[in-house]
Amino acid sequence: MTAPLLDIHLTDDDLTTALRTDARTGLTAEPKSLPPKWFYDARGSELFERITELPEYYPTRTERALLAGVVGEIAAAAHPEVLVELGSGSAAKTRLLLDALTAEGSLKTYVPQDVSASALRGAAEQIATEYPNLAVHGVVSDFTATLHNLPRGGRRMIAFLGGTIGNLVPAERAEFLADINEVLEPGELLLLGAGLVIDPAILVPAYDDAAGVTAEFNRNVLHVLNHRLGADFAPEKFEHIAVWDPDNEWIEMRLRATEPITATIDDLDLTVDFAAGEQMRTEISAKFRPEALRTELTTAGFAPTHTWTDPDARFALFLAERR
Ligand code: AVJ
Repeated sequence: MTAPLLDIHLTDDDLTTALRTDARTGLTAEPKSLPPKWFYDARGSELFERITELPEYYPTRTERALLAGVVGEIAAAAHPEVLVELGSGSAAKTRLLLDALTAEGSLKTYVPQDVSASALRGAAEQIATEYPNLAVHGVVSDFTATLHNLPRGGRRMIAFLGGTIGNLVPAERAEFLADINEVLEPGELLLLGAGLVIDPAILVPAYDDAAGVTAEFNRNVLHVLNHRLGADFAPEKFEHIAVWDPDNEWIEMRLRATEPITATIDDLDLTVDFAAGEQMRTEISAKFRPEALRTELTTAGFAPTHTWTDPDARFALFLAERR
């Protein structure tokens, strides 16, 4: 095997700087909010892995089963030379795609991208060992800001799986899809995984599990503020809330102060007050209607060519070509 390359476009200091900005903006706003990307330090990533194994959390296993059934079709339709995987993390679903794309014969390079250098280094090395004929070129970056640092050359397919597109608010989503479109050449491809609008009786428990893992994942953003910015939040004083917003068709996760709380954030010289019962938004997870998402893709400059859905219509994969 050839040792994997790793480009680092995002350092730990960059992350702290970005968190400072997001924390100051979000914690001084009314109502307060924080972006969901700050859940994912090592502990948060581990909690997310546990979420994917919960009986209530259907998205990961549904997407995996769907992908397993249609990778052959994806490979035949797309036959890319380069697979770019945004937010690859531990690259668990990747093998399904890599197996099909290497069997199809066109694939030469795998480019995993993630914000975590440690997660990426491990995953890149393992993939490079398992697929000795593949060049592996990891990119450590923030996917919303650094698409332009992706290696060029060779017909590329960018895979953005897991339903993470739903964590962007609509304006961010439109900008993100347009940015992806802009870095691609005509004829190159986007493979997008997205959760679909389903019965809230199934949806809400997926984000509010009986074992409380999602609650701990939600509160992890407070641990991140404590560690990275010298804050003194008491996470146990915040309660996890997940609500379905039927107008926006998204799940909203919030943290609710169970008593009046004053927290100090040393790095920001900032004191933040929460009234008893005050709620702070920490994540939206939008669910989609296939027709509407294809329209968004078209608006961003893509021609959607394929949509695959699981038998219960809970999750969909979209293949779209840059026009
Ligand atoms: C990161 C998109 C896969 O929104 O479903 C899981 C994150 N949040 N439980 C999602 C998450 C709460 C997740 N994804």
